[in-house]
Amino acid sequence: MRVALFISGGGSNMLSLVKSMTGDHPARPCVVLSNRADAGGLAKAEALGVATAVVDHRPYGADRGAFEAELQSVLLRHTPDMICLCGFMRVLTEGFTSQWDGRMLNIHPSLLPKYKGLHTHQRALDAGDSEAGCTVHEVTAKLDDGPILGQARVPVLAGDTAETLAARVLTQEHILYPAVLRRFASGDMRPVTLP
Ligand code: GAR
Repeated sequence: MRVALFISGGGSNMLSLVKSMTGDHPARPCVVLSNRADAGGLAKAEALGVATAVVDHRPYGADRGAFEAELQSVLLRHTPDMICLCGFMRVLTEGFTSQWDGRMLNIHPSLLPKYKGLHTHQRALDAGDSEAGCTVHEVTAKLDDGPILGQARVPVLAGDTAETLAARVLTQEHILYPAVLRRFASGDMRPVTLP
């Protein structure tokens, strides 16, 4: 199973996935693709010997279809079987998602279906939630929707800020996403629940 990983930033989730794909793991990374040339994750992927590519969304303006056509074209050069979105901060339209139906995963920093979209940690704090977490799900045309393949929970602690809560959730993201990918790549669709 050849896995393409999409990033927009530091790529810590990408790194945890790439590092997990060794030994008897049923998958291997084939490319790390970013919509930003300055994404910190690109150098980290190169240091691990993984091919990288950049498709900048900005020249396409509001023409998402043209951006996604180029994304797909660059992607297919690396012959992936599936895609893992790892902090990829562009919304993908149905024109793209339908081509990867059942073959594209995303990690989202909330306990979906709560807090789709942005600012998930601040919204959990504002709501007075006692727990927060992250979700890995299949990507469909609807934003942060699609079948849930795994969730990890953390407590919200007194005095938490969005930053301290995000850091606590991120440590779980690095455990959850590799666990889900390993199952998914071996054809096991049972959801992973952590801790
Ligand atoms: C992660 O927390 C991920 O869950 C989130 O962006 C961060 C990326 O960090 N993704 C989203 O918000 C997607 N809507 P990373 O680049 O260090 O993996």
